[in-house]
Amino acid sequence: MEMTKIAVVGCGTMGRGIIQVAAASGYRVAAVDSFPKAVEGAQASVKKGLDKWAEKGKLTPEAAAAAWQALAFSGELGAAADADLVIEAIVERQDAKLALFRALDGLAKPEAVLASNTSSISITLLGAQVKRPGRVIGMHFMNPVPLMPLVEVIRGLATDGDTVAAVLETCKKMGKTPVEAHDSPGFVSNRVLMPMINEAVFCLYEGVGTAEAIDAVMKLGMNHPMGPLALADLIGLDVCLDILNVLHDGFKDPKYRPCPLLVKMVEGGFLGKKSGKGFYPYAG
Ligand SMILES: NC(=O)c1ccc[n+]([C@@H]2O[C@H](COP(=O)([O-])OP(=O)(O)OC[C@H]3O[C@@H](n4cnc5c(N)ncnc54)[C@H](O)[C@@H]3O)[C@@H](O)[C@H]2O)c1
Repeated sequence: MEMTKIAVVGCGTMGRGIIQVAAASGYRVAAVDSFPKAVEGAQASVKKGLDKWAEKGKLTPEAAAAAWQALAFSGELGAAADADLVIEAIVERQDAKLALFRALDGLAKPEAVLASNTSSISITLLGAQVKRPGRVIGMHFMNPVPLMPLVEVIRGLATDGDTVAAVLETCKKMGKTPVEAHDSPGFVSNRVLMPMINEAVFCLYEGVGTAEAIDAVMKLGMNHPMGPLALADLIGLDVCLDILNVLHDGFKDPKYRPCPLLVKMVEGGFLGKKSGKGFYPYAG
């Protein structure tokens, strides 16, 4: 399964990083978003990211220019039609992802692999929407994509071995380390991470500590590079809430109940770094 062209659908926080890494790794890349502002934002952000890599010597100026040339941004899903691999990175909403997978199945090449960057939604369920369930897989990149080495690779019930092998190879070509996980709500990463973030929010909600104190305990005491509340701001509080809801619904276990403070903050537009305010304020 030769992969030469990758389409990334969804040019938000994650899509931008995936676009940058894929283009810098020698793939032709179609970057698609249904929201024109997101397409413009992604163009600026990917250009900045490639320029930064060239400045730091991570890419030669020629390679950075070639990566930029290999990119095409679009507002139309049709731009994904000739891709060998489509990586979906739209909002973490099940209905939106199911509809997108149905649409992609109708337009992508029959042999193309349809991957999802979902943090928690069932890959088996996504596969059940299409006529090629063997070609559906999870490629869960970490934030920020240009820096983080891991891609959690999730095999759905119907995912075939060739698809897994092709995706493991693609991750390596992108300079990432793939780790396989089974299709279970939250996979490994968010099954472990989100309850910790949620518990940190409960500590704040119940007045056990200030945001600064909670984060300092985890940084200085547990050697975490950043505290759970700062990390939640980076991930996006809406994304955290969506993932906790998937864990809560998927396991029917009250231990995953999202903290009411997290729910309230999302309702109020406190989404973290991307909205300029979360557990901490952000300039610009
Ligand atoms: N933020 C994180 O730290 C993180 C980490 C790993 C995985 N993820 C997962 O990655 C995915 C994207 O998360 P994000 O943080 O980048 O979200 P985001 O809100 O920053 O970006 C989502 C983008 O998708 C676009 N979009 C929505 N519906 C679309 C559609 N039907 N077609 C095309 N574009 C559409 C939006 O315009 C937006 O630009 C989610 O599944 C999330 O769970 C996020």
